[in-house]
Amino acid sequence: MFRKSFTALALLACMTAVAHAEGDPARGAQVFKRCAICHTDNKGGGDGLGPNLYGIAGRKAATRPGFSYSPALQKSGIVWTQPNLAKWVEKPARMVPGTKMAFSGITSKKQQADLIAFLVKLK
Ligand code: HEC
Repeated sequence: MFRKSFTALALLACMTAVAHAEGDPARGAQVFKRCAICHTDNKGGGDGLGPNLYGIAGRKAATRPGFSYSPALQKSGIVWTQPNLAKWVEKPARMVPGTKMAFSGITSKKQQADLIAFLVKLK
């Protein structure tokens, strides 16, 4: 029994690793051009319409000092894990009704994976 569930867990871990490996950060950088209208991605970069996204992966939402976030995002309690980032870029207003990120969303799972592979490298 223990052995069986262990194998299942190991398999799951492998599949997750593969799923993450699918994203291509170089292609993600191309996708990010759609975000760059409002966001900078460099260390120490300034805020635009949206906050600087350096080190965004793993950060708690709405915690960049000095940026004026919507009350909705401030109250969301979100931590920017990879699945949450995917959900966010797919449709920000569905994930956090009342957000001021005016972006229609990226529906392609492939583009989402590429973009997130790019975002996690911003550190
Ligand atoms: C039209 C401008 C605009 C575009 C385009 C845009 N964003 Fe945003 N983004 C914002 C604004 C404004 C906020 C703050 C939202 C709030 O406070 O509700 C934000 C917030 C965020 C946050 C949360 C930051 C934090 O500190 O919690 C992430 C992550 C993010 N955007 C990623 C992206 C990505 C990735 C793209 C491209 C797919 C993108 N954004 C496109 C304006 C934009």
